[in-house]
Amino acid sequence: MSGDGDLLELAERTAREAGTLVRDRRDAVDRMAVSKTKSTPTDVVTESDTAAEELIRNRLLTARPGDGILGEEGGSIAGRSDVEWLVDPIDGTVNYLYGIPQYAISIAARVAGETAAGVVHNPVSGETWTATRGGGAYLDGAAVSESGCNQLDQALVATGFGYDSVRRAHQAEVLRAVLPEIRDVRRAGAASLDLCAVAMGRVDGYYERGLGPWDLAAGALIATEAGAIVSGIRGNPPGTDFVLAAGPGLFTKLHGLLEPLDPDRD
Ligand code: IPD
Repeated sequence: MSGDGDLLELAERTAREAGTLVRDRRDAVDRMAVSKTKSTPTDVVTESDTAAEELIRNRLLTARPGDGILGEEGGSIAGRSDVEWLVDPIDGTVNYLYGIPQYAISIAARVAGETAAGVVHNPVSGETWTATRGGGAYLDGAAVSESGCNQLDQALVATGFGYDSVRRAHQAEVLRAVLPEIRDVRRAGAASLDLCAVAMGRVDGYYERGLGPWDLAAGALIATEAGAIVSGIRGNPPGTDFVLAAGPGLFTKLHGLLEPLDPDRD
C-alpha cells in the first residue's frame, strides 16, 4: 500500500469506524462528561476523544506499522516510513460535549512533509469529504468546488476562536472590523468542517488563528482541491499562526480586509 488513493482508502475506512464509535457513545448519554482539560478550563477532552484516537492509531499502525502519527490527544508516534498521519479524533469537541451535531473525525496522510490524502467525516450527518493531492475534492463521492463568490459584501465567512481569553479579546476586535464589510459570519465550532464548507460553497471563506496541524491538514487539502486558496496572512503558509481559505475571486479581498487588523497576533 503506498499510493495516495490507498492512503485515502485507509483514512476513510478508519474515520468511519471512529465516527460510529464516538456517535454511539454520545447517543448513549444525556450529558457527556469531561475527562480532562488542556490549555484552559474550557479546552476539554472527553473519554470519547481518547478512545477514538486509540482506535484510529491501532487501525493505522496495524495496516502500516512503520508510519508516524501526530494525534491531538497526545497519541504521537515517530515513524520509520515517510508517511505521517495527522489525526483529530473529534474536531469540535465542545459541540460534541453539548450534543451539537457538528463535529468530525479528521485524518490526513502527509508523505515526505506534503499532505497527500485527507478525509473529514461528520458521523451525525454522515457527510464525508475526501481529497488526494491533484485528484479533486469530493463529498460522498461527488465532486465539489468553492462557491465562486467574488464580492466581499456578499461573502458568508466562517471563523473560530481560540480557548485563551487574551487571544479571544483580539479575535473579537478583528471580528468587529470584519462583520460590517461582509454578508455575515458563522461560528460552527469545528475547523475541519469549516474548511469543507469552503470546499463546497456552504460558506464563501474561512479564517482562524491558532489551529493545530490535526485541525487543519485534511480540511486544507479538501478546500485546496476544491479550488480555494488556503494560505496564511502576508504570503505565509497556512498554519497555527493563521489560516485563510477562500476562492480565488474572494481571497485577495478578504486578505486585504484582514491583514491590517493583524489577525495573526494575540
Ligand atoms: C477546535 C475546533 C474549533 C476551533 C478551535 C479548535 P477541537 O478543535 O476546530 O472550531 O475554533 O480552534 O481547537 O479542540 O474541538 O479539536
